[in-house]
This record gives sequence, structure tokens and C-alpha cells, in this order.
Amino acid sequence: MPVENNNWVKIAEDISEIYFGANNIAEREVGGKKICLGKLNDMVFAFASVCPHAGGFLAEGCINASGHIVCPVHSYKFNIRTGYNVSGEGYYLKHWPVAIRADGVFVDMGK
Ligand code: FES
Repeated sequence: MPVENNNWVKIAEDISEIYFGANNIAEREVGGKKICLGKLNDMVFAFASVCPHAGGFLAEGCINASGHIVCPVHSYKFNIRTGYNVSGEGYYLKHWPVAIRADGVFVDMGK
């Protein structure tokens, strides 16, 4: 299991502490850096809060039925698991592994 390196940061004691809006996206500050958390089914993914295209705030976007993060500015789409841009513009969205464990919710900020 994770927490084998020092890059795992605890972001909540329990997933229920994280408020996901109607768009299934939450924002958190981790080590002075704002990140987004996206909920898809029962899984949680962590990704950059700012779109790599032109800086749209992804917390104001949404996660569509295909599991793609949709930027609110120009609607470019990113795979929530891999960060790859799936709408054909060639961008890549930084993302980090998330672990939900009995002792908390962690993000591996070293990846
Ligand atoms: S700023 Fe996100 S798609 Fe343009």
C-alpha cells in the first residue's frame, strides 16, 4: 500500500470530510499548492486546479459521464485517470495518486 515514501500527504481523516460540489469536484490546498479532487463513482482523483490550456479554474468545471474533466473555459476534456487531453488539443493535466485508507485520505504529491 502507499505511504512508502514521504510524499504522501494526508488531506482528510475521512472521505466524508471532503465536500464535493454538484460538479463532483472539490478544491484543497496541499503544501501551499491548490489542487482539485474529482469524484467518479466511488473513486477519488487528484489533479491540477488550473487548466494547462489557458488557466481555467477546473474546480468550476465538471466531470462528465465518460469520466473526463471538462474545463469551464473552452471545454477541453482530460482523462481523470491519466491526465491526457481526450478532446484532441494535445495538452496534459498534471495529476497525483490518491489513496483512501482506514487512517485517512492521502495524495502522493511526489509523482
Ligand atoms: S482554459 Fe481550459 S480549455 Fe481553455
